[in-house]
Amino acid sequence: MRSLIDILDFSVEELDALMDTAADIIADPARYAEACKGKKLATLFFEPSTRTRLSFEAAMLELGGSVIGFSEASSSSAAKGESVADTAKVISCYADIIAMRHPKEGAPYVASRNADVPVINAGDGGHSHPTQTLADLFTIRREKGRVSGLTVGFCGDLKYGRTVHSLITALSRYEDVRLVLISPEELKVPSYVRYEVIEKNGMTYTETTNLEAALPELDILYMTRVQGERFANREDYLRLRDSYILTLEKLAGSKPDLAILHPLPRVNEISVQIDKDPRACYFKQVANGKYMRMALILKLLEEAVNNPVLEEPDDGLPRIYNQLTCKNRRCITTVEQELDQIFKVLNAEHGICRCLYCEAKEKL
Ligand code: NCD
Repeated sequence: MRSLIDILDFSVEELDALMDTAADIIADPARYAEACKGKKLATLFFEPSTRTRLSFEAAMLELGGSVIGFSEASSSSAAKGESVADTAKVISCYADIIAMRHPKEGAPYVASRNADVPVINAGDGGHSHPTQTLADLFTIRREKGRVSGLTVGFCGDLKYGRTVHSLITALSRYEDVRLVLISPEELKVPSYVRYEVIEKNGMTYTETTNLEAALPELDILYMTRVQGERFANREDYLRLRDSYILTLEKLAGSKPDLAILHPLPRVNEISVQIDKDPRACYFKQVANGKYMRMALILKLLEEAVNNPVLEEPDDGLPRIYNQLTCKNRRCITTVEQELDQIFKVLNAEHGICRCLYCEAKEKL
C-alpha cells in the first residue's frame, strides 16, 4: 500500500502518468464519474484550509465517492488529547483513504505508519505539501509543454513556505531546471532544501533579494505569501510581510510568456490588476489541483487494492533510534507521546543526521 507523504514518494514517471490521467479526466470527465463509487475519503484538517480541503472533497465527489471529515482541530478528538497515531487507526475503520493537514511537521507520516488505508499529506507545518506540487507541476506542463529546461523563480517566504520546499524537491529530478531564489535574508530556503535537495542534485541556482532584477530571465514566477502563522516572533512577521508586491509595472521587463503561479491564498503579494493578464496562472492552478487530486486518489485506491500491505519507503539511508532528540518546535515528536525519535544518518563521518519526521538537522 502506498501513501503520498513526500513528493519523492513518486518517481518522475509516476508523476507524468498522474498528469496524463488528470488530462484524460479533463477531456472525458463522464468516464470517471463513478470511478470511486462506494469509496470514502476522510479529510482530517487540523489546520485552516479552504482550497486544499475543498479541492480534495470536490475531487472525490467528482469521482462518485463520498467524503467525511473535519476542518479544525477543535472539532476532533485531538482537542481531548488523542494522538495522531490513534486518530489514523480509528479513521481507517471508517474511510478508504485519508487526506491530512496538520500544523506539526511529520504528522501525516505518523498517520501513514498507523493507518490501514493510504494517507495523503495535505500540508504539514512549514515542511511539505506534495499535492500542491502536483497542481504546480501540471500547471507548468500545461502552460509550457514541459517541466525540464525552465528557469523558475521562487519569491517570498522560502523558509516556511512548504509548497516551495516540495516543488523545488520535485524540480530537482527534472533535467536542466534553473532556480532563482528571491527572498529577504531571513526567509531563505531551509538548510535541508539547500544542501539535501538543491546542492546534492547539482541544480543551478542563484539567490537574490531583488525581484525586479530577476524577473527578465524567468519562465515561471512562483509567488508566495509570508507565512505569518509559522513565525516565532510577530515583529519579524510584520517587518517582512510586505517584502514583495508584484504589480503590472514591475512585470514590464518580464518575458511575454512568463507564467505566474501562486499556491494561494494571496494576501497582497500580487496586485489584483494582474489577474486578467495572460501571464497570471494562479486560478488555473486551482482547477488543475482538483484534477491532479482526482488522479492521485484513483492511483492510491487502486494500489491499495492490489497491495494492501503497508510498505516502509526506503531511501537507502541508515536510521538511528532514540539516540538524538529533535529540537524543532514544529516537529510532531514534540507533542506525540511515545513516538520513537528516528534520525536518518546522512554523513556518518561528521555525525550529520536529519529527523525522519521534519528533516531538522542534529549532530551525533
Ligand atoms: C498553501 C499552504 O497551505 O501551504 N496553500 C494551499 O495549500 N493552497 C500556501 C499558503 O498557505 O500560503
